[in-house]
Amino acid sequence: ISLQPYNTLAVPAKAQHYAEVTDVSQLPALRQFARDRNLPLLILGGGSNVVLREDFPGLVLHMRMTGKTLVQEDRHHGWLRVAAGENWHELVEYCLANEYWGLENLSLIPGSVGAAPIQNIGAYGVELKDVFSELEAMDVATGEVHRFDKDACEFGYRDSLFKRAGKDRYIILSVTLKLSRQPHLKVTYPALKEAVGAIPMAELTPLAVSEAVCRIRRSKLPDPVEIPNVGSFFKNPLVGLDQFLELQVRHPGLVSYPVDARHVKLAAGWLIERAGWKGVARGPVAVHAHQALVLTNPGRASGGEVLALAEEIRHSIAAEYGVDLEPEPRVYP
Ligand code: FAD
Ligand code: EPU
Repeated sequence: ISLQPYNTLAVPAKAQHYAEVTDVSQLPALRQFARDRNLPLLILGGGSNVVLREDFPGLVLHMRMTGKTLVQEDRHHGWLRVAAGENWHELVEYCLANEYWGLENLSLIPGSVGAAPIQNIGAYGVELKDVFSELEAMDVATGEVHRFDKDACEFGYRDSLFKRAGKDRYIILSVTLKLSRQPHLKVTYPALKEAVGAIPMAELTPLAVSEAVCRIRRSKLPDPVEIPNVGSFFKNPLVGLDQFLELQVRHPGLVSYPVDARHVKLAAGWLIERAGWKGVARGPVAVHAHQALVLTNPGRASGGEVLALAEEIRHSIAAEYGVDLEPEPRVYP
């Protein structure tokens, strides 16, 4: 089966075996099928953060389970358990409509709820961990279902247990979010602060914040339906303070964010733009003209071709700034 419709980079890779999972009860038999044949598994949500370099020689489990349950509520919070296959942005809209607050800055992020903890999705000053309560996941080796609270997930910037010690070990089944009944607006991220600048603080609502986030995103990020992409192709790199100060002397406009006393995070998009890559095309693949951190695949080329451009950029950034860029999407196989 072709996975081209199921990855937002629109890479024409195929899966040796493919199953759509609409209910948890299907998983034991699918696990057994893969074990009997010694097949690797690829757990696929919306396919918006994967690069399929080649055909996948195993079983793709496309997570499509749906359902939302309010598991607990008090005066201040609601705990909403959401199945892994639910669409993230539809969840954000549902929460806005039902006055459960906290997701507004995370509006319009593509993909599924089950994938959100994998890289601790984040945007405009908020990360999943800020609203996360717990998740349920099946251990692929044993078939047992475990609960992970926030500490157990070891969330970091674009990072979690599920990218390190737990990599390929768990199928996330549901995520429980702790949402607020009173709005607590966070508008300190520079682009967002600017976008809501004209609105008096007293009139600022979660809906207005969500709309502002959507406006910013639509102006910079290509809609994968029109121009295939996986969002940011690289993480924003951490550098030591000494290297940062040195770079700042050579590049006074360098965009950075404080991390701790000894580290600074750099805006990779700025580095890539300044190195001359913005808008550059290599045949069917390109660097997005409005956001240099985004690689696009308008020609629907192979994952290998996209990765070749990424590698070229990585070398260029290492040579120009001495900074190593790490890809954000997961590469298969
Ligand atoms: P997939 O691409 O299907 O999978 C990604 C990884 O998660 C894979 O390794 C997969 O095996 C694993 N996975 C998926 N579901 C499960 C599950 N149920 N159990 C276990 N493992 C699973 N990300 C941000 O953080 N912030 C942004 O602002 C942002 N903007 C984006 C904008 C665009 C236009 C695009 C295309 C992407 C953007 N992304 C952003 C990246 C992407 O939206 C997120 O990483 C999202 O969480 C991926 O969800 P998905 O369901 O598509 O995951
Ligand atoms: N910049 C440039 N040129 C560019 C791109 C960016 O100079 O081509 C500068 C901007 O002017 C700004 C700074 O870099 O000063 C940051 O840019 P932006 O606000 O667009 O955010 P980003 O750091 O490029 C990160 C996330 C996005 C997330 C936004 C908003 C990473 C790897 N990316 O991008 O997440 O939506 O912040 O919070 O952390 C994703 O992960 O796929 C993703 C899109």
